[in-house]
Amino acid sequence: MEFNSNYEQKIMTDLVSYERNGSIVVIAIENGAVNALSQEVRSALWQAVERFDQDDVARAAVIMGAGRMFVGGADIKEFGKPPLEPTLPELINRIEVSTKPIVAAMHGVSLGGGLELALGCHYRLAMPSTKLGLPEVTLGLLPGAGGTQRVTRLAGVEKALDFILPGTPVTEATALTLGLIDRIGEGSVRSAGITFANEVLSADKGARRVSELPKPAPDRDAVAAARTRLGKTAHGQIAPFFVVDAIEAATRLPFKDAIAEERRLFLELMQTPQRAGLVHAFFLERKVSQLRELSGIAPRNLSTIGVVGGGTMGAGIATAALLAGYDVCLIERDESVATAAQRTIDGNLAAAVKRGKLSEVDRENLLSRKLLCATNYGALSEANLVIEAVYESMDVKKEVFARLDEVMKPGAVLATNTSYLDVNEMASVTSRPGDVVGLHFFSPAHVMRLLEVVVTDSTLPDVTATAFAFGKKLGKVSVRSGVCDGFIGNRILTRFRGAADRMVLAGASPYQVDRAIVNFGFPMGPYAVADLAGLDIGFLTRKRKAADRDPRDIIPVWADELYHMGRLGQKAGRGYYIYQERGRSGEPDDEVNEIIARCRAAKGVVARNFGDDEIQRQYMAAMVNEAARVVDEKIAARPLDVDAVLLFGYGFPRHRGGPMHWADSQGLSGLLADIQTWAKEDEFFWSPAPLLERLVAENSTFSSLNG
Ligand code: 3HC
Ligand code: NAI
Repeated sequence: MEFNSNYEQKIMTDLVSYERNGSIVVIAIENGAVNALSQEVRSALWQAVERFDQDDVARAAVIMGAGRMFVGGADIKEFGKPPLEPTLPELINRIEVSTKPIVAAMHGVSLGGGLELALGCHYRLAMPSTKLGLPEVTLGLLPGAGGTQRVTRLAGVEKALDFILPGTPVTEATALTLGLIDRIGEGSVRSAGITFANEVLSADKGARRVSELPKPAPDRDAVAAARTRLGKTAHGQIAPFFVVDAIEAATRLPFKDAIAEERRLFLELMQTPQRAGLVHAFFLERKVSQLRELSGIAPRNLSTIGVVGGGTMGAGIATAALLAGYDVCLIERDESVATAAQRTIDGNLAAAVKRGKLSEVDRENLLSRKLLCATNYGALSEANLVIEAVYESMDVKKEVFARLDEVMKPGAVLATNTSYLDVNEMASVTSRPGDVVGLHFFSPAHVMRLLEVVVTDSTLPDVTATAFAFGKKLGKVSVRSGVCDGFIGNRILTRFRGAADRMVLAGASPYQVDRAIVNFGFPMGPYAVADLAGLDIGFLTRKRKAADRDPRDIIPVWADELYHMGRLGQKAGRGYYIYQERGRSGEPDDEVNEIIARCRAAKGVVARNFGDDEIQRQYMAAMVNEAARVVDEKIAARPLDVDAVLLFGYGFPRHRGGPMHWADSQGLSGLLADIQTWAKEDEFFWSPAPLLERLVAENSTFSSLNG
């Protein structure tokens, strides 16, 4: 292609622009929010590189991203579909074989295939505040476009393992020490790229290819240590092991063969249910807040957040709001409890400093200037949003809402953190039910990602929008829920905990149930969780529900016995397990097995054996069956909202995508058949959800309802 040497020519495709300044060509990627490397982008980049090669005037090229970042990675939407040419490895190889030097100039974010693209360029720079990473393992994959090979050649085996296995991005400064980039740029990314390209030309350096670097030295110790570590931490995930295999291959095979091995492993992972589950989890995290009812609705302004009650939840919520930059006013019953709440918040912030999330100066500033702990409701008069986190009692909550109605300014949002209670009823005691919403945080509130936004019959759309905007600012995954006992999460939890208790009554030990559930991929089993939360919580909930309980329901009488014995869980040093130290895992206790055996005998139950597989199937079926009702009753807007709740609030293994995604992947008809079989023994507990029956009859899936 002919170009005149001294004028700037800018030619745009929709996705990649080609612009020449003197002898330097700038190729800029411009594809949506994250410049994902879709097939169209790959094809346009390929053409741009071809054109650069044939452009007699052009002597060097800069590849950069337009907009906020370099490149956020391969286009995840293409995963699971047949690969489209040019594939990313083909494109990167095409760039690398170019005989004229190509510089990657990165800013903002350079992730996955984006960083791999840069590693195929001959020189690399990153601007200050760039995040560089290979997060493929978090999607159930390994870097499949040369990442495992080129990083290992540049950084060595041990550092490549440390960089790729966690999938966490690093700063440009770390990337420089790892040898992944040559320099940190100054000025604009474009000018930094052109300056670097000019320097390369002046020094007559020419093209320089990572693939031509010598084979990295093997490091058997690092590889063995990584495999041992993963044996303990991978929780059944395959991708991290494949990363180790690919890195090891870099030390054994010539580049061409090693990259073919990396591709083979990548394509194998692409076919796994784990990859499908993790990609589902990636997208649902973003989709949960995309609700039709919120489209075009502006949230109300928030600057000061009120919190009523500074116990476990109130102090955590106040901490989360402070960390997100809000002024916080917390109300407690009296001075001593208010001071205790302030101490808890201080402790939470100190822990954030320890984890490097907050500077010491900021901590002091938050405590002295942004937080007010008071005993007088009048102090809430400036708050735009107040969240009550007082005792779980309708009478107390109603009293608090009536007080809030008196003191809050017009337009303020009134929220409750109740776990189970009817938010409509609380709203009814105010003169402004449209301003009332549930904001159900999970403990610890400043750590757990899930926030259920409970929308009542009267909540105004801009109040819901404000709740979602608040959740976003706090870094939460906010999920819309309708009003019912326990909302989405705790309602479903009650059912799968019920299934666990039924299995224990029938003969499984709590320790066997916990082991089977951990083997499924949950971080803890239900009985270890009960010990962590405190056995008093379950006891009080059972008491609260006793009046309305169906006589056919089964309750864990042994749990009541443990409660009365003072075995309240971790805080008492014993519950289902015995704890030498709080926060550590506990030891099973024969006394508990004996108590349960007595309860079985009292009910005339003859214990039978359970396999781990049956335990997992019953636990999951109870979860999915109730989740189907929650969707059918429109408590959850879509099945993906249920998946988000279980993933971000209840420890559901991310690589299984959530219960609805998991159910689809298993096949709904098998699940329904299981439920129908168990219903023959216990019709009350196992009656199939109508939605599940409908979907099976229509040969359909939960995902068909995600829209
Ligand atoms: N492919 C397709 N879409 C993507 C995408 C990708 N790689 N990354 C983000 N998106 C979409 C999001 O779904 C979202 O779409 P929506 O607006 O319709 O919901 C939109 O882009 C914006 O994304 P975010 O809201 O996440 O934007 P942020 O600015 O908050 O974050 C980001 C940007 C840090 C790039 C973040 O989006 C991210 O972490 N993306 C995924 C990065 C990743 O995992 N890359 C590796 C991909 S695998 C790979 O490259 C394989 C290779 O080895 C062959
Ligand atoms: P908590 O007992 O630790 O704290 C309640 C606090 O409210 C106490 O400090 C008490 O002094 C204060 N309080 C009571 N009445 C008050 C009033 N009228 N004015 C001001 N302060 C008052 O209870 P926790 O665990 O923090 O729970 C609070 C709420 O959060 C409950 O509705 C609970 O169901 C809900 N919740 C609890 C979770 C948990 O894991 N603990 C998780 C999610 C929600």
